[in-house]
Amino acid sequence: MPLAINQLHRGDCLKLLAQLPDGGIHLAFADPPFNIGYEYDTYDDRRSASDYLEWSKRWMAEVVRVLRPDGSFWLAIGDEYAAELKVIATRELGLTCRSWVVWYYTFGVNCKQKFSRSHAHIFHFVLHPEKFTFNTEAIRVPSARELVYGDKRANPAGRLPDDTWILRPQDLPEGFSEGEDTWYFPRVCGTFKERSGWHGCQMPEQLLGRIIRSSSHRDDVVLDPFGGSGTTLAVAKKLGRSFVGIELSAEYAAKIDERLAEIQVGDPLSGAPEPLKSVSTTKDGRRLVRRQSKRTPPVRKPAAALRK
Ligand SMILES: C[S@@+](CC[C@H](N)C(=O)[O-])C[C@H]1O[C@@H](n2cnc3c(N)ncnc32)[C@H](O)[C@@H]1O
Repeated sequence: MPLAINQLHRGDCLKLLAQLPDGGIHLAFADPPFNIGYEYDTYDDRRSASDYLEWSKRWMAEVVRVLRPDGSFWLAIGDEYAAELKVIATRELGLTCRSWVVWYYTFGVNCKQKFSRSHAHIFHFVLHPEKFTFNTEAIRVPSARELVYGDKRANPAGRLPDDTWILRPQDLPEGFSEGEDTWYFPRVCGTFKERSGWHGCQMPEQLLGRIIRSSSHRDDVVLDPFGGSGTTLAVAKKLGRSFVGIELSAEYAAKIDERLAEIQVGDPLSGAPEPLKSVSTTKDGRRLVRRQSKRTPPVRKPAAALRK
């Protein structure tokens, strides 16, 4: 029986994706386990590299099968497997890579003997190299001409974001130059009102907002095979998209259902819509102070890296 839409389905995505028909999904977003020893409640994030890559190829092939001919697939992944998964997606599964976005986040784990990791990779793949949805008007951001130079000639409609999404502009006084690909969104840290508090890998709603707005239209179907805390599904619902979610853990799945039940179509996304101009609201309503909270949850990092 095909998977019902506008629902979270509990189970293994490989088995459940097989229940989706070919070619019905407009947009898939996947933030799979990175195989770095992260402590999930059910999934074991320590597989051999060959096993992880074989598994990744299998679930990605299912995602490709269920995409519409003009569909898009966004994949979030860490350094360890980014290059290999991109090769699988493009050379073996036939996808075209439109952007290799670097998401630069603050509140990463502080390392003593190496540079602290502060980024993840987000690939934007499309099935057809020319026919795909990309709503440029829905994702414009203020230009440096407007923000930095106060130039009256700045286009009030803004410009398309670079492909590095930055999180903390005060660390980059020169900023990034035009044409670069850094996207600026804070990770959902422990003090943020947005944070659910029960899943350490919760992604910011504004980040998913940019992806869903750019690569789908209202009523399109958005798929997330690795539900986690349910961010993709929550944002899809708020933005009036249909969705199909899958999550292995019974506990996480139940909490996703609770999160979705509290959301109405049209609700605003959590977090600052334009982080260069504003910051996220904390749980008690105050703006953030410039120090890291002890309640900041662990970033997804290999256990070995934390010891260095
Ligand atoms: C990195 S988290 C996703 C976080 C999510 N993007 C968010 O914003 O909350 C990955 C999730 O995939 C789930 N998972 C692992 N293996 C799975 C499988 N075979 N099928 C479905 N879900 C799986 C884990 O339980 C975990 O919750």
